Amino acid sequence: MDMMTFFSEESRREAEALAHRSIASLIGNEGRTAVVTGAARGIGLAISHRLVESGAYVVLADLRADDLAKARDSFPQAFRARTATLEVDVTRADAVRALAETAVARTGRLDIWVNNAGIFPPSGAIQEAEDTVFQQILAVNVQGVFMGAREAARHMVGKGVILNIASIGAIRGQNGMSGYSASKHAVAGLTRSLALELGKFGIRVMAIAPGLTVSPGNAEALERVQAAGHKLASLSAPLGRIALADDVARVALFSVSDMAAMMTGQILVIDGGTTA
Ligand SMILES: NC(=O)c1ccc[n+]([C@@H]2O[C@H](COP(=O)([O-])OP(=O)(O)OC[C@H]3O[C@@H](n4cnc5c(N)ncnc54)[C@H](O)[C@@H]3O)[C@@H](O)[C@H]2O)c1
Repeated sequence: MDMMTFFSEESRREAEALAHRSIASLIGNEGRTAVVTGAARGIGLAISHRLVESGAYVVLADLRADDLAKARDSFPQAFRARTATLEVDVTRADAVRALAETAVARTGRLDIWVNNAGIFPPSGAIQEAEDTVFQQILAVNVQGVFMGAREAARHMVGKGVILNIASIGAIRGQNGMSGYSASKHAVAGLTRSLALELGKFGIRVMAIAPGLTVSPGNAEALERVQAAGHKLASLSAPLGRIALADDVARVALFSVSDMAAMMTGQILVIDGGTTA
């Protein structure tokens, strides 16, 4: 049978063109505009570096103005012109809307939106857990992602990728982190559902799920756990180490690139095999 009948004329042309492109062009993002939330440090900053290196113009958004200025200085001089920074609280609908509008105003387009901003305070024992902590986790980690995806989808024309930063807490429970784990399970649900909804607009929706990764926020969290007299859980990743932020950023780059053009609604786990 002629399997090409499974394609529309347009999708066949597009798929065949991809199959003939070089690897360098497929992983590249020349001429594309990206937004990364929580980009002032940690995983978001590492993702921003790889996106800029791959050719994209990147708007780095974060709550922390000081860290944003330092983040911009961390780019090689030659790349700095392809970066912009904006102070944004992802829990505020108006701020997230302004972020999308800024990206489009600067470059006339929006191709990639990375929902990375996230917080991970411990929930503690459920008997003592505070409503306000739970609500704040959901506001940043879930509603922030929801609103980011909404603005991205409104501005992406013909094609685009939304990448959500989940966690291995999205695919299994985390003792003492029930609010966080619940929020990341919600991110997985948003990823899968929005992939179903947005495919017809040419928008892919992906998630990546890091395991323990070196970042400023995580270092602070681990210090708090130790200061409270708790023992740190022992780590036994089959690959024998935890992740650097760039380990995560490289998979982020793959996910948003045309290398992954046939992927949507999937969660790629980056944990050295911890959850295998
Ligand atoms: N580090 C890890 O081990 C790990 C593992 C799995 C998933 N993650 C996820 O990766 C993402 C980044 O984590 P990280 O370790 O780099 O953390 P981090 O604390 O080092 O950096 C997070 C950044 O997000 C920003 N941010 C927080 N709330 C915000 C808000 N309301 N609006 C805008 N910006 C906000 C912070 O200011 C900070 O710059 C988070 O979604 C986190 O849940 C991290």
